[in-house]
Amino acid sequence: RPIDGPSQDVCKLATPSPGNPLQIECCPPAMAGRESKPFQFPSPSEPKRIRRPAHLASQDKEYVEKYKLAMKRMKCLPPEDPRSFFQQAKVHCAYCNGSYVQSSHTNLGLQIHFSWLFLPFHRMYLHFYERILGSLIQDPTFALPFWNWDHEDGMAIAEMFKDPESPLFDGLRNVHHLPSNKPLDLRWDRVTEDKPFERIRDDNYARVYELMVSGAQRRLEFFGPKYRAGDPPPAGGGGTSERLHNMAHLWTGGHNQQFGEDMGNFYSAGRDPIFYVHHCNVDRLWNVWKTIGGFRFDFDDYDYLNTSFLFYDENSDLIKIKVKDVLDPQALGLEYEDRPIPWRNSRP
Ligand code: C2O
Repeated sequence: RPIDGPSQDVCKLATPSPGNPLQIECCPPAMAGRESKPFQFPSPSEPKRIRRPAHLASQDKEYVEKYKLAMKRMKCLPPEDPRSFFQQAKVHCAYCNGSYVQSSHTNLGLQIHFSWLFLPFHRMYLHFYERILGSLIQDPTFALPFWNWDHEDGMAIAEMFKDPESPLFDGLRNVHHLPSNKPLDLRWDRVTEDKPFERIRDDNYARVYELMVSGAQRRLEFFGPKYRAGDPPPAGGGGTSERLHNMAHLWTGGHNQQFGEDMGNFYSAGRDPIFYVHHCNVDRLWNVWKTIGGFRFDFDDYDYLNTSFLFYDENSDLIKIKVKDVLDPQALGLEYEDRPIPWRNSRP
C-alpha cells in the first residue's frame, strides 16, 4: 500500500538525531481536523519558471534584488503563518526528525530520506517554496536558482549568499568555506582545507560520474530502497542521488555547531536559504540522470506513484500531493537552464 502522508492528528516533538534527548517543536500550524485539497497542476497559461545556475544569477542585479525581496517578505511573515520562513524550515524537520507518523499506521514514524521518496519529496517541497516566494513579490515567473556544483564554475557558494546584510545569508555556515574561490569538495574528509582547486574539481567529476553513471544504472540504485505503508522508517543508506547530495550539507553547515547547524542537520537545514538552492541542483540531476539512457527511468510502482504528502501552498491552503504529480517537471511549469555536463566522461 502507498504511504498516505503524515497523520494530521498526531505530531510529536522532533529530535536532532534518533534517541537524542533534545526536543524541538517542528509541527506545522493547525493541521488537526483540517480538510486538505487535492493538488492541482499550474495552469498551462502560467509562465514557465526557469531555474538558473546561482553563480550566473548572482551577476544579474535585478534578479538578486527580486530574490532578496521575496526572501525578506517571507522572513517578515508572522511566525504562525504556514508560508513564513520559520514554518517552511520546519517542514523539513517535521518530515525528517521524527515529528510525523504515517496516517495509516500511527505507531510508525515517517521519514522521507533513505528511500525512493527522497527525490519526489524534495521536488514537492521546492515547488511550494518557490511559488510562495513568487507570490510574495507578485512574480509568477520567479524561480529559485540552482547550485551548479557539478560544474567547475559553480562549485563555490554563489556570491549572493555571502552578504551578511542580505536575507540570503545564514550565519551558521562553515567560515572556511566562504572564500569566493573555495569549491564544494564532494569527497571532503571533514579536515583538509588546502586541497588545490584542480584536485577538488577532478575528484568531484569522478564522484558525480560514479553516482550518476557507473553506480546508478538502475532505478533502485539511484532512487534508493522501496518504502511502503506499514514499513518502519528507513534509517540509513539511500540511493546514489541522496549519497551524492549529502556532502553539501556537511560541508556548508557550521563546523563548530553541536549538530552541524544549519545545513548539517535535517532539523535545521531549511533555515539556510542555500538549502533550497542545493536541492534545486539535486532535482536537476534527477532530470539529467534520465537522459543518460539504459534503464534510467522513474518507478512505475503503484505504491510509489500514490504515496502522498501534505504541504501548505502560497494561499495557505493545505494540499495533498502525490508522487505521480511531480514526475514530469514540465507539467509543474518548471525548467532548468541548460548547462554543460563536464563529468559525463569522467570515468575514474
Ligand atoms: Cu532533506 Cu538535503 O535533505
